[in-house]
Amino acid sequence: MTEAPAARGFGHGKLILVGEHAVVHGHPALAAGISSGISVVARPGAGRLRVPAWQLEAAVDDGTAVGRALGAIVRRLDAPGLDFDAEAGIPSRAGLGSSAALAVAVARAALAARGRPATDDVVAAAAAVAEEVFHGNPSGIDAAAARTGATGRYTRAAGWQPMPVLQKITICVGLSGRPRDTAAQVAAVGRLRERLPAAGEILALLGRLADDAAGALARGDVDGLGRVFDAAHGLLAALRLSSPELDTLVHAARAAGAVGAKLTGAGGGGAVIALAPGHERDVLQRWRAAGFEGFLTDIAAAPAAEAAP
Ligand code: MEV
Repeated sequence: MTEAPAARGFGHGKLILVGEHAVVHGHPALAAGISSGISVVARPGAGRLRVPAWQLEAAVDDGTAVGRALGAIVRRLDAPGLDFDAEAGIPSRAGLGSSAALAVAVARAALAARGRPATDDVVAAAAAVAEEVFHGNPSGIDAAAARTGATGRYTRAAGWQPMPVLQKITICVGLSGRPRDTAAQVAAVGRLRERLPAAGEILALLGRLADDAAGALARGDVDGLGRVFDAAHGLLAALRLSSPELDTLVHAARAAGAVGAKLTGAGGGGAVIALAPGHERDVLQRWRAAGFEGFLTDIAAAPAAEAAP
């Protein structure tokens, strides 16, 4: 008897360039899918998921968050009776969209295993139910970036719009080593907003910076983008989303020649991103000397015509 061919799916990791948290409250954010991500193979089985790189094993509705998210995807797609093996090219809970990338990859693999087309709206709906388990109130930006792998502007109202990028840009990503907890950080911002009305204005300003960043990317203005990163980090810190580790990474990047640096994703832990044209290796070295791992990734150029929705 010949074995059924393995069905595969992929989800991209992402970096939020500017506008995290603002996007939860209806403002725009700018995100870039990265080429690294999560690859999943689906085979006939009993609803198990294995991610060896994260030492993770779960099963549909086993009581863990991952098991509940897996159950939500499988029910949404009406695709029971499958096992999933994932190869992770990004760390988990580091602010790089690991949960959305895993959800998108599992959904695509499940659809392939059932011989159904992995249309964008079906994958988006499956990823959304999984993200609700992890995040409570997800804006949807992580799942959109995980699906496209490109650079785009996202709002809750208009969804994902691909954005032009004049030239390839190298981003330094520094890992704080402290896992981020998106649901807790999103809830904390919600509470702060009730007690500090000005927090709403800070979120609106972050959304405006996301649009300034989109303009800088379209012009190839790396220095301008760096200034936006610095301003955004200050505003995110004002919302109590930074941490000693994230601040150390940001300051070390600037000392090594970065033109801008900020936390990325939910904050509290996770990662920072820095722009340091010609000094990327210096930034990585400075981070390593301070006890932090990092890596480089590129935002690909996307001509306006290609980026148009
Ligand atoms: C997390 O990557 C981004 C947040 O804005 C949450 C969300 O948009 O769902 C913090």
